[in-house]
Amino acid sequence: MLQKFDPRNKDIKIWVKDGLYARQDAKVSVFDSVVQGGDAVWEGLRVYPEGIFMLDRHLGRLADSAKAMAFTDVPKNETIIAALKETLEANKMDRDVHIRLTLTRGEKITSGMDPRLNQFGSCLIIVPEYKPPVYDNENGISVITSSIRRNSPNNLDSKIHHNNLINNILAKIQSNVAGADAALMLDWYGFAAELNGTNIFMSKNGKLFTPHADACLHGITRGLIIEIGKEINNPVIEKNISLTELYAADEVFCSGTMGELTPIHLIDGRNIENTSGIKTLPSIIEKFEAKIPQLCVTI
Ligand SMILES: Cc1ncc(COP(=O)(O)O)c(C=O)c1O
Repeated sequence: MLQKFDPRNKDIKIWVKDGLYARQDAKVSVFDSVVQGGDAVWEGLRVYPEGIFMLDRHLGRLADSAKAMAFTDVPKNETIIAALKETLEANKMDRDVHIRLTLTRGEKITSGMDPRLNQFGSCLIIVPEYKPPVYDNENGISVITSSIRRNSPNNLDSKIHHNNLINNILAKIQSNVAGADAALMLDWYGFAAELNGTNIFMSKNGKLFTPHADACLHGITRGLIIEIGKEINNPVIEKNISLTELYAADEVFCSGTMGELTPIHLIDGRNIENTSGIKTLPSIIEKFEAKIPQLCVTI
């Protein structure tokens, strides 16, 4: 599914380091760590009329990622929240907005990998865009299995939400070539990990399953679905899930801030058919939607 340019985003104001800039003037230095090595951490946030959805959890994950990457200059939550508030106010945005919140290690005194070359402090970037959920949540999406494995803690821990997205981008290229909407990525052992930008769930005979969060991002939306599962007395079971189990599932869906909850109707050419007739997704979506206003943080 190819996103289109939304003309409402033509004149947006973007936060870079210490202030707001018009879209065409919002830039980072060519010496910035994110340019030189993808050396940055990020969060995708969604804005609803009631506030920013689960902002506290997103800021917590950002701080954890920055800590894992040994960032020495991490802005306090109050500083980030003040910048978010100023950005949304300047753009008069209060709904249907997705924010790409990035913290780079900042500018270097000369090209090189060594973080000791970063002597100007970190760089906070806030890109707010009008962007309703990006997938077809009514009809669902198709996916293919990529040959690119999702990172395990052995190489680059998927628990760090970093900007080095090459493995996911390579997987996405494969799905584009195959004419599918997204790529399913496996872990080192060949079990499903996640899609290239979302977490994955399946149901069989009314029971809900999701892969362990070993080789996938521990998505904030994923975490909420696990909480919802407990509330509706249908706890999500975290387990190794093989492709055969996914092909034969009654329902498969993916979750993420960018697209919310999206059914998957085709995997590697296999239609996902609900042979048990038991549907779990509608009740999860109902609970999810009811929780949006409750879990939004007003800034
Ligand atoms: C690889 C990957 N998986 C899953 C997700 C979904 O995570 P969340 O629910 O926190 O948006 C994201 C979102 O950025 C992602 O990049």
